[in-house]
Amino acid sequence: MPDISDLSGPWWRTAAIYEVYVRSFADGNGDGVGDLIGLRERLPHLRDLGVDAVWLTPFFRSPMVDGGYDVSDYRDVDPSFGTLADFDAMLAAAHDLGLRVIIDVVPNHTSSAHAWFTQALQDLPGGPARARYHFRPATADGTPPNDWESVFGGPAWTQAPDGEWYLHLFDPAQPDLNWDSADVRVEFEGVLRFWLDRGVDGFRIDVAHGMVKAAGYPAAGLTGQIGLLGRRVLPYFDQDGVHEIHKAWRKILDSYPGQRMAVAEAWASTPQRLAQYTAPDELHQAFNFEFLQADWDDPAAVRASIDSCIHAAEPVGAPTTWVLSNHDVRRHATRLGSLERANAAALLMLALPGSVYLYQGEELGLPEVLDLPAQARQDPVWFRSGGSDPGRDGCRVPLPWQAGAPAFGFSATGESWLPQPPEWAALAADRSSTVELYRAALSLRRSLTGALRWHESAPGVLDFTRDGLRCVVNLSGGPVALPEGPGSEVVLASRPIDGGTLPADTTVWIFARTVSTS
Ligand code: NOJ
Repeated sequence: MPDISDLSGPWWRTAAIYEVYVRSFADGNGDGVGDLIGLRERLPHLRDLGVDAVWLTPFFRSPMVDGGYDVSDYRDVDPSFGTLADFDAMLAAAHDLGLRVIIDVVPNHTSSAHAWFTQALQDLPGGPARARYHFRPATADGTPPNDWESVFGGPAWTQAPDGEWYLHLFDPAQPDLNWDSADVRVEFEGVLRFWLDRGVDGFRIDVAHGMVKAAGYPAAGLTGQIGLLGRRVLPYFDQDGVHEIHKAWRKILDSYPGQRMAVAEAWASTPQRLAQYTAPDELHQAFNFEFLQADWDDPAAVRASIDSCIHAAEPVGAPTTWVLSNHDVRRHATRLGSLERANAAALLMLALPGSVYLYQGEELGLPEVLDLPAQARQDPVWFRSGGSDPGRDGCRVPLPWQAGAPAFGFSATGESWLPQPPEWAALAADRSSTVELYRAALSLRRSLTGALRWHESAPGVLDFTRDGLRCVVNLSGGPVALPEGPGSEVVLASRPIDGGTLPADTTVWIFARTVSTS
């Protein structure tokens, strides 16, 4: 168990951080929505799993148009999740268990129910309350000011009642803040301090690459180029100006004791541009989505993604982060085609240098729920696409804890804001076999240090060593022989293996020397 009173090393460099999607983790008051009391009660599961920290998705006051990523008050807890006192009690309990807590901060946009946006709508065009957002004059032909598109689909502009347009890179209920406004900068520095003073260990910064927009709102079609990874370079993402904000935030984090940290949710056109977010005077980490997006039918591409992420982080000295699932993407047990391959991928990820982010339920082997009824769906992506894109509800279904309990132990009343599939009884935390694999891997992982060194391997096989650990991943589609060597011992396998053969979609950890598992 980590000792959080030990301030001697940067804990986040090698941490295993568990994402809690609060609405779907555990419901303490029986209303079918996960909350902070439910989370506090289930924290021992996370301690026993062996993670170092939890990241909580937004639990602030919100109309919940986008699951809480539409914040109407950054300094209060939404009543559906509890109270500030519940937060404090949960934080204290986590720290008592040796778990650090990082929370989401959502600086790119507020909710349209935020007091600032209400004031902006009441203000006159050009007025000071409008200057905190991106308002543009009404157009003669009634078309939006430019061709920017919302990430959730449709134009990124909506008209206010007086005809002016406001920018929202996501839902119209999420107006983008204007970070050229001193009010905005001062307000967010206060928000960070509010939560740091309460004792949080850090922040996950939502849309950390989006806060600054190109001057003059140039059309995306005109400036768009193809990035090295094939990603568009857009006038509203990854603008150089965001780095000044992150540098200012780093100074605030460093002014607190106890190794407070921040991880950026940032999308950049190249690993090199992404690495800029983790320069020594900027944020501590950035999510590495290249690994998440790798094509697992192409083992060479998986290896290339690992190499490129490690190499891109080297010049800035930041630890690489690894993630396979989160609340925005299809769960990897479904995305990769089978639980066997998903567990092989997890065991590979857990052997890599750097820190890992796990998404709640992956330790149970949960698949994506693909057949949610239309009337249950809540993701704005579903609504804005007119139902053509199912959106992200399928990875947000409340967790099963106990096979025989109402709502599988998620809520004492049996309520659940999204329906749980009956077959999840077999995957509940008290039944799942995958959870033992994660526990063992997270425990052994604590002993791993050192850089990654690849071995020559058969086609479709990834084979590398870190110190005494050899990790062999068979993505070749058929069985392969296990490497042999004196003293080599398979200590962990992503599924049972028999003799000297490694089945397809299986990862093994082989220790050539004794490694402590404490
Ligand atoms: C990224 C978050 O992870 C996602 O859930 C949210 O919809 C968008 N940012 C907008 O805040």
